[in-house]
Amino acid sequence: MAYSDLRGFLADLGDDLKHVGETFDPRFEMAAVLRGLPAEAPAVMFDKVTGYPGARVAGNLIASRRRMAKAFGTSEERLAQTYLDNKAHVIAPVAAQGAAPAQEVVHRAPDDLLSLLPILTHHEKDAAPFITIGMVLCTDPATGRRGMGIHRMMVKGGGRLGILLANPPLSQFHANSEAAGRPLDVAIALGLEPATLLASVVRSGPQGPDKMAVAGGLRGAPVELARALTVDVEVPARAEIVIEGRVLPGVRETEGPFGENTGYYFSNLSPVIEVTAVTHRDNFIYPGLCPWSADVDMLLSLAAGTELLGQLQDMVAGVVDLEMTGGTAGFSAVVAVKACPRHEVRRLVMLALNLDRRLKTVTVVDDDIDIRDPREVAWAIATRYLPERDTVIIGGAEGYVIDPSSAGSSAGSKAGFVATRGPGPQFDKVTLPAAAQARARQLIAEILR
Ligand SMILES: Cc1cc2nc3c(=O)[nH]c(=O)nc-3n(C[C@H](O)[C@H](O)[C@H](O)COP(=O)(O)O)c2cc1C
Repeated sequence: MAYSDLRGFLADLGDDLKHVGETFDPRFEMAAVLRGLPAEAPAVMFDKVTGYPGARVAGNLIASRRRMAKAFGTSEERLAQTYLDNKAHVIAPVAAQGAAPAQEVVHRAPDDLLSLLPILTHHEKDAAPFITIGMVLCTDPATGRRGMGIHRMMVKGGGRLGILLANPPLSQFHANSEAAGRPLDVAIALGLEPATLLASVVRSGPQGPDKMAVAGGLRGAPVELARALTVDVEVPARAEIVIEGRVLPGVRETEGPFGENTGYYFSNLSPVIEVTAVTHRDNFIYPGLCPWSADVDMLLSLAAGTELLGQLQDMVAGVVDLEMTGGTAGFSAVVAVKACPRHEVRRLVMLALNLDRRLKTVTVVDDDIDIRDPREVAWAIATRYLPERDTVIIGGAEGYVIDPSSAGSSAGSKAGFVATRGPGPQFDKVTLPAAAQARARQLIAEILR
């Protein structure tokens, strides 16, 4: 079933959404909860927000496979395949009929964003509150092509936002608008159902389909769009909140420090958005996402991991599964292979590291290893990998901008670790008789109860 908006999705979660009746502060307290919740915990709705009577903040929305499977109308087991199947069948967006819910309440040229929205402050040394889960939308002035992505935005005084534009397509669109000496119209959609949100971080190169059509494919129904009120951009009509504005040409200001998805603070000299309007639904829900959390892991697992798995399976026989390692901001992944000769595994490593710009290390193991269990992966490395023989290094790679070890330089490097078993029975895992295991499972379940 395709959810038409965030509130429809939340209404269907039942016990998988926990309402918090106590008042919580968007300054640090909510981020601390979102950071602390394990991936499998329910989503949370803060029904009372310090300083914002009547406002609500929802978080931990997409962290679990259970919830993502629900958003895609599939099972947890079929989540990756459903993502790939849906993504391959793009569905073009349509114009919303009638008034857009996202524009029920309109604030033109607001001077103080914080008086309108409970934007979270996450970490102790963050310079300001940051928007972390906004789908930023704009059109390329050079080609007319739509672009979207998740970009962090720092709340500045005077109705301005600093925006980190480090990745295409938006970084390129911004460069094109600056070359023409013009501001870049943008809209930031906040509070989307998960499939549409995910589309903003799906990879789609310059020749790829419109990401809004990818969003339609992912959710299995077209996204309804409305025209923004003060800028030339189309926005999801059923978003909870839309911020409209213009990225000013030639302006750079300090943006940050901000505690990033890497777990480190990162500052930048970044472009600035002048906000022209904030529109929202009646009783809007503000969405929170804490950097370096299970929510981020899920976005990267699907948009980067599943994507890469599909590409590798097309290119190398024997690729079984892939897991982006949680907490690594998409810098590390583990791949499982079956009956894949060593020279093919080395080719696989080179492909993976080159296909994914962000990926810095990849470990390849056999399919007798549970790639979602760090103990098993560490065991494979400890017992099947020989550093001198099994390390593939790529030098002169672009360092990812938020990676403190290479910090956006061209002196980055990447490595692959081939931890597949050699031939011979010495690599067979120890086993226990099935009957003994069955009995043990029963007792263990009782002991743990
Ligand atoms: C949680 C999250 C936060 C992100 N924040 C930023 C950001 O602040 N600035 C930026 O340029 N890109 C950011 N990105 C990446 C862009 O959204 C990127 O354009 C998008 O993921 C496209 O994929 P690719 O860069 O992997 O090709 C973020 C991605 C995720 C998943």
